[in-house]
Amino acid sequence: GKVAVLLGGESAEREVSLASGSAVLKSLHEAGIDAHGFDPAHRSICELVTDSFDRAFIILHGRGGEDGVIQGALQQLKISYTGTGVLGSALAMDKVLSKLVWSARNMPTADYRVLDKASFNPNECALILADLGGTVMVKPSREGSSIGMAKASNASSLQKAIEAAFAFDNDVLVESYIDGPEYTVSIVNGVALPSIRMTSPHDFYDYQAKYASDDTEYFCPSGLPVAQEQELGRLALTAFEMLSGAGWGRVDLMRDKHGKFYLLESNTAPGMTEKSLVPKAAAQAGMSFQELVVSILAQTFA
Ligand code: DAL
Ligand code: MG
Repeated sequence: GKVAVLLGGESAEREVSLASGSAVLKSLHEAGIDAHGFDPAHRSICELVTDSFDRAFIILHGRGGEDGVIQGALQQLKISYTGTGVLGSALAMDKVLSKLVWSARNMPTADYRVLDKASFNPNECALILADLGGTVMVKPSREGSSIGMAKASNASSLQKAIEAAFAFDNDVLVESYIDGPEYTVSIVNGVALPSIRMTSPHDFYDYQAKYASDDTEYFCPSGLPVAQEQELGRLALTAFEMLSGAGWGRVDLMRDKHGKFYLLESNTAPGMTEKSLVPKAAAQAGMSFQELVVSILAQTFA
């Protein structure tokens, strides 16, 4: 049957999703699949029914597409879709709720505070910094691709970072900064792929480092000893499943100087652009981009 590749959408990650979606679409065509791009920012998803689509490949990033909203609508329309369902998408989109679920089950994640726009008092900044170890990451709770994020290590830069993050979300997460390289584990059909380590000369692995600059270094294999690599894979898979992740996704972590891993977040519709991480991990596992896309599509849920 006909496959709709859902791409674009209205989130701040629209451009990333268009790039991911066109790569997925091209690859499905090369595999001989009758796939069509469908941008819910421009068309009502009810047209999926009138146009006789029977499956959707969701490659929308961010709110509206990766947070359960589209997933629920597709369920109502009886169209099966790739990846995680309504609850798991909503949980993984929300970094604060993700941390609550993980910490309730003793999974490692950095200390944090949550601030809400209506009651934020800038006089708290110095105390928050002291409580969280002096250097922090500021993040809108429900955003992706590092949009709205900043690192801060004094009260005035923290205040600026928090106020900037409120432009993207009413809930802002302030997290202890883990001084170590970032790692990511891609998950496809219940299997953890080889981890990737990223290093960037920027403050952190930010939007520029992810999509624009050529100065980000990717290490895959990441260089961990075999036993630690297996442990990391199990940690990521457990973290993904605790948030009701299904099908495919990617779990991001930091590793401190003692070798301890801290969960950052889980992505249920991770990037599939030329610079993205899941395709790199798949390649390391001997899986081509086309094999990756076809195997994601093979696991649709309804
Ligand atoms: N949020 C971006 C697309 C990612 O996780 O790759
Ligand atoms: Mg994300």
